[in-house]
Amino acid sequence: MAENSGTDASAPVAIVTGAASGVGFETVGRFRARGTRVVAVDADADAVALFADDAGVDVVVGDVAEPTTAERAVAAALDGFGRIDVLVNNAARFLLRPIVETSLDDWDSLMATNARGVFLFSRAVLPAMTAQGGGSIVNVSSISGLVGLSNQVAYGATKGAIVAFSKALAIEVAASGVRVNVVAPGTVDTPFVRVPVQALPDPEATMREIAATHPLQRIAHPAEVADAIAYLASPEASFVTGVVLPVDGGYTAQ
Ligand SMILES: NC(=O)c1ccc[n+]([C@@H]2O[C@H](COP(=O)([O-])OP(=O)(O)OC[C@H]3O[C@@H](n4cnc5c(N)ncnc54)[C@H](O)[C@@H]3O)[C@@H](O)[C@H]2O)c1
Repeated sequence: MAENSGTDASAPVAIVTGAASGVGFETVGRFRARGTRVVAVDADADAVALFADDAGVDVVVGDVAEPTTAERAVAAALDGFGRIDVLVNNAARFLLRPIVETSLDDWDSLMATNARGVFLFSRAVLPAMTAQGGGSIVNVSSISGLVGLSNQVAYGATKGAIVAFSKALAIEVAASGVRVNVVAPGTVDTPFVRVPVQALPDPEATMREIAATHPLQRIAHPAEVADAIAYLASPEASFVTGVVLPVDGGYTAQ
């Protein structure tokens, strides 16, 4: 990506979902540091205030599971910035629940946010990317999509779906110059983990236990995941497509 600042009309354009917190927020920061203009998508209306001072960021508030949200994000990118070079499908919700306590609504709503959203946004950006001669889609999965983790049947299924989806799409669109890759984080220090752990009897002990399951003996900072996303999105990864990159402190190497 070009090194420039602000709102240079020749700068690349990225759509980032789940941009108001954690990995998505850090990813927007990485892109902006490289001059990439961003359409930041989040269900949380606070996203508007987060990026209000940056003319290089347009905010779309909406649920990624709704088809109109992807359509609005694509319209914001094309009408506001004139192109779409990168899509980061990052928005997701977590569910830590045994299968027998997982309701049909739990399953359907998690699939809608975590998997259907990836389908809707990918489908929506491809006509513009193909017309431009290429682009890069980075989908955020999880170690839960690669290995079995207890009480994560629904969440893990959504994250495994993203891996299979991304490999199939990488092959389908390769000839049009669009690359599709996956980042699979281990535990990351964001509200995604902090909020459910806070509800447990000893949150700090639980965080220490989670950290110890990663060979590097700690959890990730969201910026470490954003760096991997930024790499896969960038021209430095121009011959990389269809890969799943664990950013997991060695978790899946065990
Ligand atoms: N935090 C972890 O330990 C961890 C581990 C592995 C993978 N991941 C993945 O990393 C990604 C980012 O997670 P995070 O830790 O930054 O989470 P986070 O909770 O800090 O941020 C997620 C953001 O997504 C938004 N969002 C949620 N549902 C949405 C919807 N339906 N429509 C639009 N926006 C929605 C939230 O408002 C929030 O701003 C997710 O895909 C998650 O599955 C996280």
